[in-house]
Amino acid sequence: MRNREWHLVRQPAGLPTLQDFELAETTLPAPSDGEVAVRNIFLSVDPYMRGRMTSRKSYSAPYEIGKPLEGGAIGRVEVSKHAAFKAGDLVSSYQGWREGFVTSGAALTKIDAALAPPQAFLGVLGMPGLTAYVGLLDIAKLSDGESVLVSGAAGAVGSVVCQIAKGKGCRVVGVVGSEDKAKWLLDHHCIDAAINYRTTPNLRLAIQTALPGGVDVTFENVGGPHLEAALACAKDFGRVAVCGLISGYNATEITPGPRNFADLLVKRLTMRGFIVSDHWNRMPDFLRDMAGWIRAGKMAWTETIVEGIENTPSAFVGLFEGKNLGKMVVKLS
Ligand SMILES: NC(=O)c1ccc[n+]([C@@H]2O[C@H](COP(=O)([O-])OP(=O)(O)OC[C@H]3O[C@@H](n4cnc5c(N)ncnc54)[C@H](OP(=O)(O)O)[C@@H]3O)[C@@H](O)[C@H]2O)c1
Repeated sequence: MRNREWHLVRQPAGLPTLQDFELAETTLPAPSDGEVAVRNIFLSVDPYMRGRMTSRKSYSAPYEIGKPLEGGAIGRVEVSKHAAFKAGDLVSSYQGWREGFVTSGAALTKIDAALAPPQAFLGVLGMPGLTAYVGLLDIAKLSDGESVLVSGAAGAVGSVVCQIAKGKGCRVVGVVGSEDKAKWLLDHHCIDAAINYRTTPNLRLAIQTALPGGVDVTFENVGGPHLEAALACAKDFGRVAVCGLISGYNATEITPGPRNFADLLVKRLTMRGFIVSDHWNRMPDFLRDMAGWIRAGKMAWTETIVEGIENTPSAFVGLFEGKNLGKMVVKLS
C-alpha cells in the first residue's frame, strides 16, 4: 500500500511555516497475522502538537525530526488479520498525519458511526470533548447556575465547555476572535453573550458588562491578556481551570505570567491546570453523557474541514490564526 506521511524536518521558530514539514512517500507492508491495515479518512490537528515541536520538557515527548508526526485520526480498516476487526470498520487511532498504517490493533478503537459522523470522534466525541467535560466538571467543579467565562469559546474544546455549562443552567460568556464565531455560538444557544476580543477596546470592561456580578468559573484556553482579564473579573473564591495557553505557544521567549497575579491572593482564587491524558478513566462517563446530550439534541457542533493530506500543515498553522470554527480536521480523499 502506497502511503504519504508528514515528517517534521526542523523545529519551528515562532509560528510554524510550511518549510518545517515534509511530505514523505513510503510503502506499507501487507499486514501479518494479528495485524490490521488502516486507511485514514480524517486527521486531527490540535494546538498541543505545537508543544511537541519543541525540545522543552513537557507532558509528552517531542516529535522526532525525520519521523512521521503523530496525532488523532479516524480511519477505515482495509485489511484485517486481527479477530477483533473486519474490513470496513471505522477506527480511531493516534496514527494521524499519514494516509495509512499497519498496526497490531492494540491501539485502535472502533467508533459508533450511528451516533455521529466519523470526524465528530476527533472533536465533540473525542479528546477535545473529554477535555471540556473533565475541565469543567472535575477541575473547576462547576455548580448549577454559576457564571462562566470561556476563552477560545468557538473552538473544539471551548464550544463544548459553553454547552455543558449552559446545560447546568449557568450564565455563559464566550470570548472569540470573529463576529462569525460569536454568531454561531449565539445562534446555537451555546452562550448568553459573546465578546469579540479583536474588536473590543477593553476586554476586562466587556466581561464586567456581560457578567456584572463577577465570574465564578473561568475556563482558560488562551492565556495572556485573556487570563489577566479573567482574574480581574473573578469573584472572591472563584475558580480558574487552566486548559490551554495558546496565545503563547509560538513565543520564542518564556511568556510572562499575568501582571495581576495578586488577584489570586486578594480574591482567594483557585487556579488549576490539567492535562486530559491524566483523565482517560473518565472516558466512559463522558461518552455516556455526551451520547445522551447528542441524542437529546442538546449539543451543537461543527468542524472546519480542510481537504487533502497536502494541506495538513496549513490546517495546523490555521489554528494559531483563528481559521477554525469548531474542530479543525483534514479530510483525506
Ligand atoms: N489541557 C489539555 O489537556 C488540553 C486538551 C486539548 C486542548 N487544550 C488546549 O485548549 C485550547 C483549545 O484547544 P482546541 O483544540 O479547542 O483549539 P481550537 O480552539 O479549536 O482552535 C484554536 C483557537 O484558538 C484561538 N487562538 C489562537 N491563537 C490565539 C491567540 N493568540 N489569542 C487568542 N486566541 C487565539 C483561535 O480562535 P479565535 O478566532 O477565537 O481567536 C483558534 O481558532 C488550546 O489552548 C489547547 O492547547 C488543552
